[in-house]
Amino acid sequence: MTADLHRLVYYSRNHVEGTDATLDREIGDILAKSQHNNRRDGITGALLFNAGCFAQVLEGPLGAVEAAFERIQQDERHGDVSLLALERIEARSFPNWAMGFVGASQHDAGRFDAIGSASGFDPARLDGEAIHSLLRDLAVEEEGIRH
Ligand SMILES: Cc1cc2nc3c(=O)[nH]c(=O)nc-3n(C[C@H](O)[C@H](O)[C@H](O)COP(=O)(O)O)c2cc1C
Repeated sequence: MTADLHRLVYYSRNHVEGTDATLDREIGDILAKSQHNNRRDGITGALLFNAGCFAQVLEGPLGAVEAAFERIQQDERHGDVSLLALERIEARSFPNWAMGFVGASQHDAGRFDAIGSASGFDPARLDGEAIHSLLRDLAVEEEGIRH
């Protein structure tokens, strides 16, 4: 069952315009749809939104992850979707999250900015492993708060 477990990491730019309320609503829609589909498809992961950008980790069976990424790339709520990593993994980093949302706090924003500036804000130079580690750390912190 875990034989073809893969992790995909990408980065994209937000295209949703309007007030904070509009953005909150769109992100709420994205998360609700993602959690519904991902539960069905055996995908787990985390989504970070910050400073006009999304970064997302998807993990699950290769075919399911690829199909989700195809749909995600066609979504007009974001653009410049840059694939940063696609690799086989032994175990999930987000086993409890059909799609968790991280990065909303000021503190988290600073950590994401650090990754952005290390790359010169060039998506092609963003580091998939660094983004995966950041999202995993944020997820652990969030779960710590909730328990
Ligand atoms: C930033 C972002 C992240 C998304 N993440 C997921 C996801 O993890 N899983 C998913 O199924 N759809 C995700 N979507 C939504 C897809 O783009 C698409 O709208 C959805 O999969 C269509 O599902 P449907 O065919 O069931 O309506 C995401 C969209 C955006 C903009």
